[in-house]
Amino acid sequence: MSDNVSGSICPPEVHVDNMTFQVLFSPEEIRQRVQELGAEISRRYDGLNPILMVVLNGSFIFASDLMRSLDIACEVDFIKISSYGNEMTSSGEIKMKKDYDALVKGRHLLVIEDIVDSGLSLQFLKRKFELQDPSSVAFVTLLHKPENSRLDFKLDFVGFDIGSEFVLGYGLDYQQNWRNLPAVYVRREEAGEPDASSGNTV
Ligand code: PRP
Repeated sequence: MSDNVSGSICPPEVHVDNMTFQVLFSPEEIRQRVQELGAEISRRYDGLNPILMVVLNGSFIFASDLMRSLDIACEVDFIKISSYGNEMTSSGEIKMKKDYDALVKGRHLLVIEDIVDSGLSLQFLKRKFELQDPSSVAFVTLLHKPENSRLDFKLDFVGFDIGSEFVLGYGLDYQQNWRNLPAVYVRREEAGEPDASSGNTV
C-alpha cells in the first residue's frame, strides 16, 4: 500500500494517491480555537438548553470536542446528509442518509458542520429545520471556504476561514479515509501542477 501516515501521531506530511498533504492547523491550534468557540457558544446559549445537531459524517470529531468545551446544559442529535458521495465536486443535490430524532419545535438548534464549501448542505438544512418551527437555528463550522460558499445567511460561529484548496483530517475525508488524522491537512501544490483546489470532501 503506497498511502501512508508514517512515523508519528501527527505527521508533518501525508501522502495519499500521489498527492502530498501538509499540516494547515495543528492539533494544538485546533484545540485552542475549539475552546474559544466553546466559550462563545456557552455565553450565547446560557439557560437556553440548545440541541446540538451534528451533521454526519465529517463533523463528528469537531462536534465531540466542541461539546466537551461547553459549560452549559445541552442535548445532542445527529443527521446524516451527503452532497458529494465519493466525487471530487458537489452533485448539487443533497441526499438525506439519516434523519434526526429530536422534537425541535420551540427549541434552539445549533447545527455543527466540519466545513462549509459550496454552502449547499447548510442551505438545505436551514430550510429543513425552519419548517419545524424551532425558536432559533444557528450554525457553527470549523472551516469555511468564503471564496466558494454561496449562502443567503451569515454563519454564526466559524473556526477558520480557508482558501479553496482540498483539506482532510480531523473528520474530513479523502474517499472516506483519513478522518482519523489529528490535524487539518491541506493539499500541497506540486511543481507543474496548475491547481490543487478542486472543491472538498470526496
Ligand atoms: C461534506 C461536509 C459538509 C459538506 C460541505 O460532507 O461534511 O457536510 O460536504 O459541502 P457544501 O458546503 O459544498 O455543501 P460530505 O457530503 O462530503 O459527507 P461527509 O460529511 O460524510 O464526508
